[in-house]
Amino acid sequence: MKKILILAGGPSKEREVSLETGKSVFNALKNKKKYKVIICEPDGELIKKIRRFRPSVVFNALHGRFGEDGYIQTILEAEKVKYTHSGVLSSYVAMNKEVSKKLFIKNKIKTPRYFKYKFNKNNKIEKKIISQIKKKFNYPVVIKPKNEGSSVHVYICNEKNIVRNLRKISQYKEILIEQFIPGREIQVAILGKRKLGAIELKPKRKFYDYEAKYNSKANTKHIIPVDLTKSDYEKLMNIALKAHKLIGCKGVTRSDFKFYNGIFYLLEINTQPGMTKLSLVPEIAAYNGMSFINLIEWIIKDASINR
Ligand SMILES: Nc1ncnc2c1ncn2[C@@H]1O[C@H](COP(=O)(O)OP(=O)(O)O)[C@@H](O)[C@H]1O
Ligand SMILES: [Mg+2]
Repeated sequence: MKKILILAGGPSKEREVSLETGKSVFNALKNKKKYKVIICEPDGELIKKIRRFRPSVVFNALHGRFGEDGYIQTILEAEKVKYTHSGVLSSYVAMNKEVSKKLFIKNKIKTPRYFKYKFNKNNKIEKKIISQIKKKFNYPVVIKPKNEGSSVHVYICNEKNIVRNLRKISQYKEILIEQFIPGREIQVAILGKRKLGAIELKPKRKFYDYEAKYNSKANTKHIIPVDLTKSDYEKLMNIALKAHKLIGCKGVTRSDFKFYNGIFYLLEINTQPGMTKLSLVPEIAAYNGMSFINLIEWIIKDASINR
């Protein structure tokens, strides 16, 4: 029998989504005789719990900081327990949008132009930043935390609301300011070395924000298969696989793109994509003939240490 410890919850802003992912994974496995499954919070008792339960595999269902950025992975490596998804360094790099964008650019993967901004000690919005934005970009621009997820504190800004939005995000020490890319929103799932497929999102809201992602009442349209020419589709899949390999990701990843004027812009790569039954990776998998349980079992079989 395989003992599976699902890590879910945690202190990040994506806690609720993680609890949903954890529950979905638990429900998929709980009735199978070959598994003994428990769900754990990554709290101060975690190491004790791991040593007591002695899992065959830790299924990492955490999202965001602490769970997706290399921290928890370091603990799991130290405990020498097999775990799912990406390892320490690749998790850190993927979660840090500044570091990953530098790598994309160096390796000729298109990503929106950006610069980093550090708030000063008093979190005052300096005039300098406004003129810098004006010099470098055309409005609208996007401001976002350097390492957050689920569109938390991502703002699309025009000249009128830029100062107000900068204030809202000033709790983060460092942010990215990006050129806004209009056009289509397409995401790609990679499973190991396999190009699993793509999905297009058409939000009814201004953009693909937290509500559009998780509230079914926001009525975001999911389009699969994505309407692209064969060669564009191949191009897209190859960029996602290249990014996955470049960062050294393991298991499953989901890459977020904007498609505009025939160019795919990679926004980011997610190393802990949502795994609720309504999430995008399971939807892409299902369309390509892989059921939810098969996806979860693939991820479990792929688990290891030294990732
Ligand atoms: N440069 C950009 N141009 C247009 N839309 C963007 C840009 N950056 C982010 N967005 C929108 O915000 C969403 C979340 O941004 P993303 O960089 O993927 O961060 P998160 O980690 O929060 O998902 C994207 O899916 C997209 O809809
Ligand atoms: Mg994203």
